[in-house]
Amino acid sequence: MKGYGPETFGRLNAADYDALHDPGTTEAAVELLASLAGRGRTLELAIGIGRLALPLARRGVAIEGLDASPDMVARLRAKPGGDKIKVAIGDMAEIAVDGTFDFVFLAFNALFNLTTQEAQVRCFARVGERLNPGGAFLVETFVPDVARFKDGAIVRPMAVDFNGVTLETGLHDPIAQRVDYQYIRLDAGGMRLTPLPMRYAWPSEIDLMAQLAGLALEERWGGWDRAPFTAKSEMHVSLYRKPA
Ligand SMILES: C[S@@+](CC[C@H](N)C(=O)[O-])C[C@H]1O[C@@H](n2cnc3c(N)ncnc32)[C@H](O)[C@@H]1O
Repeated sequence: MKGYGPETFGRLNAADYDALHDPGTTEAAVELLASLAGRGRTLELAIGIGRLALPLARRGVAIEGLDASPDMVARLRAKPGGDKIKVAIGDMAEIAVDGTFDFVFLAFNALFNLTTQEAQVRCFARVGERLNPGGAFLVETFVPDVARFKDGAIVRPMAVDFNGVTLETGLHDPIAQRVDYQYIRLDAGGMRLTPLPMRYAWPSEIDLMAQLAGLALEERWGGWDRAPFTAKSEMHVSLYRKPA
């Protein structure tokens, strides 16, 4: 999507991220992430406003972060404890941070914010280089459902309330596995447009990216509560391990 860069998500969404982007899984995610991170040096890619990193830091996890958006990181810094987390501003397809880590994670579909296969493969390769032997990389994404698109498009009311309506619109390119979304909020105050390009990948392709990076799938759950992953799962939490 022309005009949309790595920092655009934060510029458009940082101010009301807390109110509009709650997946309802934060508590369970923090529980699982804390148990996997243990006492190891931990890096959250696309740390955002610290939805996961702040509670993890409070639980004693040695967490650092990377994000492309100065706006998101400014929100993180403004929260209690946010100034104590080391965060680098940069692209998760490059991961220009100091040192190596025992545990790296990338939550809430953020892998799909990298809008080409090449960038996603590079992200995995960089994680492979940044992990200590025996270290692990956890990825959470939705499982793609192309049945959502009819004639290469989607138009769907997401919320209808007394004040207005929120619409999800998007154009689907099944070859590049890309969707260019435009979320539209219409109410008495006028119209707000929130664009979001995404490049989706099925779990099997993500496994291949991991394999290319020298990582092997260790666990795949259908939720943060470690629910089994099945053909009906709408999301997955996958754990990859670098050989010791
Ligand atoms: C859906 S939010 C997820 C934030 C956080 N991980 C969470 O679970 O709440 C996506 C985040 O990815 C960041 N982002 C998008 N593209 C990026 C890139 N190329 N490199 C690093 N961060 C990126 C955005 O700035 C935003 O903070």
